[in-house]
Amino acid sequence: MNTTIRIPEEEMARQREYASMFKALPGRPETYHIVTYGCQMNAHDSEKLAGMLEEMGMKFCEVKEEADLVLHNTCCVRNNAERKAMGNVTWLKEIKATHPGMLIGICGCMVQEEGMADAILRRYPFIDIAFGTGTVYKLPENLYKAVVSGRRNIAVSQEQNTIAEGVPILRSSPYQAYVTVMYGCNNFCSYCIVPYVRGRERSRTLRDILAEVEGLQKQGVREIMLLGQNVNSYGKDLEEHISFAQLLHEVGKTGIERIRFMTSHPKDLSDELIEEIAGNKAVCRHFHLPVQSGSNRILEQMNRRYTREAYLDKVHRIRSAVPDIGLTTDIIVAFPGETEEDFEDTMRLTEEVGYDSAFTFIYSPREGTKAALMPGRIPDDVASERIQRLIRLQEEKTEQFFKSLIGSCDSVLITGNSKRDDHMFTGKSGRNISVNFENTDYSIGDIVNVRFTSYGKTTLRGEIIKE
Ligand code: SAH
Ligand code: SF4
Ligand code: F3S
Repeated sequence: MNTTIRIPEEEMARQREYASMFKALPGRPETYHIVTYGCQMNAHDSEKLAGMLEEMGMKFCEVKEEADLVLHNTCCVRNNAERKAMGNVTWLKEIKATHPGMLIGICGCMVQEEGMADAILRRYPFIDIAFGTGTVYKLPENLYKAVVSGRRNIAVSQEQNTIAEGVPILRSSPYQAYVTVMYGCNNFCSYCIVPYVRGRERSRTLRDILAEVEGLQKQGVREIMLLGQNVNSYGKDLEEHISFAQLLHEVGKTGIERIRFMTSHPKDLSDELIEEIAGNKAVCRHFHLPVQSGSNRILEQMNRRYTREAYLDKVHRIRSAVPDIGLTTDIIVAFPGETEEDFEDTMRLTEEVGYDSAFTFIYSPREGTKAALMPGRIPDDVASERIQRLIRLQEEKTEQFFKSLIGSCDSVLITGNSKRDDHMFTGKSGRNISVNFENTDYSIGDIVNVRFTSYGKTTLRGEIIKE
C-alpha cells in the first residue's frame, strides 16, 4: 500500500504566509543557530530549516549561546548520537537562564522515537518547540504559534510519510548540493531504527528531481549527491515506471558535472545500475555499499537479505564493469550472538574486498527494533577488542591503497582551504578521497587534475597538473 502524502501546494502557500506573518511580528526572535547530528539526510534537512528561517526574516548567529533560537536536529541511530544530542540540549538550559527569551527547539529522528514526545513534554520543560521528520515543512507555522502564544509547541505527529516540494533551502556550499531522491526505508534491518523514525520509502518524481538539478546547475553547482536511505529502490513506489539507473541517466543528461549517490543496499544492486555507472561519465567513481557483516548467519539475523557470496559477486561485477571504482562500506561488530568465527568472517571479507575505507560501528541496541530483543549481547570488552582489530585491518588496507595511488591522477573538486595550512587547498577526488595540494591559480569550486605525491592516514597529498 502506498501511503505517501504529497503535501498540496495550498498547504505550502499557507506555510509561506506564516513565514511572512512571522517576519512582521514585533519583538520576534531575530537570530538562529542549528546544531546538526547524524547523516546526510539530517544535514540536508538542516539546510531546509535554515532556508525557512531565513524566509521568516531570521539571521544565522555563529555563536550558539547568543542565538534567539537554537534548533537541534537529532539522530538516534546509535546510543552515543542520542546521548550527545540530549547532553547539549540540557546544557543549553543553563544558558537559557541567562538569556531570557531564548527558544530551544528539537527535531529530527530522535523526536520521532516512541515515547519521546511525552518525555519532552514532561522531562524537558525548557524545550519550546519540537517536531518530527515528516513535518519539517511546517516550521513557519509551528514557530509562529509558539511565539505568538508564548507557549510551548510540541507538535510531534505520526505524519511521517510526506513529500513536501518547494521548501526553501539555504545550501551550505555554492558548488556541491544534496538532492533528495527518496525518503524513508522499507528494509527493517533488525538492528536499525531508521524505518521507524523516517517512515516508508517514497520517491520524488523524476520531474521534481530534474527541475531541482537543472536549477542547481544554472546556479553554478558542479557536484550533486543524490540522497536516500536506499537509493537503488528509487521509483518502485511511483506510477511512472522508472529505476534508479534510469534516474541516473536522466540526471546525467542535465549536464551536471559530477554525480554521487548515497546509500545503496546490496540486495537491490542491479546489473542495469552497474551498466549505467560504467557508461555515465558524470557518475563519480565511488560506490558506498554497506555490508554490515561477513557472516551469513549474522546477515540473516540482521535481515539483510543477501549472503556474503551474493555480496562478493556484486563487488566482482561492479569492479569488472568499472575497474577504477572505489568501494567503501559500513560494518557493525558485536551484533547479538556474534561469535569469534562470525567476526573472523567479517575480517576475511574486509581483507578480500579491500575497501578504500570503512565506517565501523559497535552494535547499539535500539528500543523497538527486533535485534534489541535478541539474546547473546556481546560484552563491551569483547566488542571493543573486535572493533580495534577491524579498524587496524582497514587502516592497513587503506594505507596499501593510498600507496598504490602515488603517481596517478584524478579530478578533484576544490572545496576549501586546508584546515591545517591556509596555503593549501583541500578537495575530494572522484573516488571520494580527501586531497590536499598547493594553492596555485585556481579557486574554490574549480575542478582540477591532481597528481598524488604522498599520503597520510586519511588524506592524500598532491599537486595540480596544469592542462
Ligand atoms: N540506509 C543506510 C544507512 C543507515 S544508518 C544503509 O542502509 O546503509 C548508517 C549505518 O549505521 C548503517 O549502515 C549501520 O552500519 C549503522 N547502524 C545502524 N543501526 C545501528 C545500530 N543499532 N548499531 C550500530 N550501528 C548501526
Ligand atoms: Fe537501516 Fe537497513 Fe534501512 Fe539502511 S537499509 S536505513 S540499515 S533499515
Ligand atoms: Fe541518524 Fe536519522 Fe540519519 S537516525 S543516521 S539522522 S536517518
